Amino acid sequence: TRYSRITGTGSYLPPKRVTNADLAVQLAARGIETSDDWIVERTGIRARHFADPDVTSSELGVHAARQALESAGRTASEIDLIIVATSTPDMVFPSTACILQNKLGIAGCPAFDVQAVCSGFVYALTVADAMIRTGSANRALVIGSEVFSRILDFEDRTTCVLFGDGAGAVVLEASDTPGILATDLHADGKHVEILCVPGGVFGGKVHGNPLLRMDGQAVFKLAVGVLEEAARATLAKAGKTEADIDWLVPHQANIRIMLGTARKLKLPQDKVIVTVDEHGNTSAASIPLALDTAVRTGKIRKGDTLMLEGVGGGFTWGAVLLDF
Ligand code: ACO
Repeated sequence: TRYSRITGTGSYLPPKRVTNADLAVQLAARGIETSDDWIVERTGIRARHFADPDVTSSELGVHAARQALESAGRTASEIDLIIVATSTPDMVFPSTACILQNKLGIAGCPAFDVQAVCSGFVYALTVADAMIRTGSANRALVIGSEVFSRILDFEDRTTCVLFGDGAGAVVLEASDTPGILATDLHADGKHVEILCVPGGVFGGKVHGNPLLRMDGQAVFKLAVGVLEEAARATLAKAGKTEADIDWLVPHQANIRIMLGTARKLKLPQDKVIVTVDEHGNTSAASIPLALDTAVRTGKIRKGDTLMLEGVGGGFTWGAVLLDF
């Protein structure tokens, strides 16, 4: 049997770190009140990184990709598939994956974007796993990269304090042993309204609001339940139980959602990888950023069983269970 396995991880944060206190000062200048206490208590976020205006998702992503290649001991020329998960692409088209491919100095292999907002990385990893298992690819770069700062409404304190920019990447290779044990993806388009950027480009102009809108409480209520279901579905498919999970690597949106999911899966808090405090919510980049951070700090080791799970706009959600 043919499986896929992660052989390298990488990540990149733009250098500009913005603390809650920095943000509170910026918002105060617009007459909007927020505080470090409020943000930490409700979300667990202490700081996030923002890219400079000329830095795009492909730029952040290529740094993460190079680091993942290095950790896998591979060169870009050995890659035969590139999938980028992003909801903040460089352009309407071509895809961020094509732009990133060129920045890596390679050509020829298929490259495309996957758009599932904060579930983007589990979607992209699932697609890459399927393509490797069926023999369409042998060595994939799977990247989550976002510049959410571009689509934030800094007049809306209920959303602008939550998000950050960054990128994470993995090299996923064909293997005789698993690797990825099970995947489970879902979407329900009736929830479009609770989390969206409704605007679009039309006739040379932006029509509708091009900034992020979110009903935070509605998202919160849906998130914990669907994340538990997806996680349990992957365990059932792989013939495993909660006790087999060494690390939960959740989408980093809000510490309360992350710990809520861990509780439902009967996982102690110290088995949850947490980077939301320093990264904020980086949407499709958050899972590979958290994964790489935990690998580099020595928490996650080769052979550990990981539960990756994400939820986001669409509504979309999913999980990937894997042996690292
Ligand atoms: N600073 C200070 N006060 C604020 C702020 C702020 N930044 N934002 C809101 N408030 C106020 C509100 O105005 C409200 O005041 P009021 O009681 O006078 O009306 C009060 O704080 C409470 O607001 P709530 O919205 O009830 O706060 P809640 O506890 O629900 O927390 C939050 C809001 C953090 C957005 C929460 O609902 C949440 O985390 N939801 C999930 C969001 C999420 O995770 N989204 C991403 C998942 S999908 C994806 O990643 C794209």
